Amino acid sequence: MLNFEFYNPTRVLFGKGMIARLDEQLSPEARVLVLYGGASAERSGTLAEVRAALGNRTVREFGGIEANPTYETLMKAVAMVRAEKLDFLLAVGGGSVMDGTKFVAAAVPYEGEPWDILVSKGEAAKKALPLGTVVTLPATGSEMNCLSVISRQSTGDKLLFSNPLVYPRFSVLDPMRTMSLPMKQVINGVVDSFVHVMEQYMTYPVDGMAQDRFSEGLLSSLVEIGPRIVATPDDYDLRSNLMWVATLALNGLIGAGVPHDWTTHMIGHEITAKYHIDHARTLAMVFPALLRVRRTEKRARLLQYAARVWNLTEGTEDERIDAVIRKTEEFFEGLGVPTRLSAYDIGAEGINDLVRQLEDHGMTHLGENGDVTLDVSRKILEAAA
Ligand code: NZQ
Ligand code: ZN
Repeated sequence: MLNFEFYNPTRVLFGKGMIARLDEQLSPEARVLVLYGGASAERSGTLAEVRAALGNRTVREFGGIEANPTYETLMKAVAMVRAEKLDFLLAVGGGSVMDGTKFVAAAVPYEGEPWDILVSKGEAAKKALPLGTVVTLPATGSEMNCLSVISRQSTGDKLLFSNPLVYPRFSVLDPMRTMSLPMKQVINGVVDSFVHVMEQYMTYPVDGMAQDRFSEGLLSSLVEIGPRIVATPDDYDLRSNLMWVATLALNGLIGAGVPHDWTTHMIGHEITAKYHIDHARTLAMVFPALLRVRRTEKRARLLQYAARVWNLTEGTEDERIDAVIRKTEEFFEGLGVPTRLSAYDIGAEGINDLVRQLEDHGMTHLGENGDVTLDVSRKILEAAA
């Protein structure tokens, strides 16, 4: 196993009716900014529950954070927090609102140009306002990690930062609050979580026994949850399971002490930046292609994944690897998520642009061994064509 430091300070309040517990998480004197996205939080009644739980505290609201949150919009929230001297940020939404809130938290006390926080990958942030979240979309794991992904409209960039100061103090996970999601977003959550686990698992073995079994348990759960949740969308237990699996997929636990390969996410972010395709949908195109291109480097893990998650134990090693890559693709396609760039009319010219974007963002040595060069990324995109 590799050396690691594991730290996760986020308190999780999980289950039906837990929004009421916001009251005890915040000081009565807190001056709160509630941040949310478009119309869904109001329409679903989640905001009403949040307002009721916050009681007589000073509360301001900032709506309109878009999917793939933009620096331009978030800077308006930064100005509001500064002007009104608010001191606690409460995100009510999915990954976009939670990530946007983390950026606001770090940007408010930042003395320079806050975009530097992203350019420095988070290092520039030395202070942050405290924040909490009420999750309405299980997918990103943002509720229990210190990552944030922000887009900048004016330049077309989509960059990620990480800083322990932006771990949520608490996150409320009430599966009932996900019932209003369009099925497309539920499925996005299944796919995003699946790929999060994979990027901390599908590398090379380091004998992390618990990490492997945790990861395989999460993957197997998602394989089961996906089709069942489509068939019975109102099933509370399935919603609960998806919500907790999505959180565990990216809260640091399964990734401690094992190598990571975030190639799929880095290429996927470039696809979203250029084509505005939903985050999870970009991953479904890149990940199976990555497996095909990197099957030699990932051979041992592909065989373990085949045996333990899909029970593929018959045939030669190469046959099992072929079969498990096919299974992975069929899993995504079976949920109605395309696995080819052609489904979005992205052709050779698009691939050239994406490789150029990767270069501009310094994504030239990705992967668990740092050997996913621009040439390899190009091969992956071509394999996804
Ligand atoms: O804007 P509203 O009206 O709220 O609608 C949202 C949005 O359009 C809707 N929605 C959310 N909860 C709902 C709901 N609709 C009905 N009922 C509900 N309960 O869903 C749409 C998508 O929301 P969004 O937050 O954009 O989705 P997601 O949670 O998938 O987040 C995607 C963002 O997270 C980043 C992605 O890059 C992307 O920007 N990621 C963040 C990560 C992290 N912080 O760790 C890791 C991820 O890999 C990812 O990169
Ligand atoms: Zn993701």
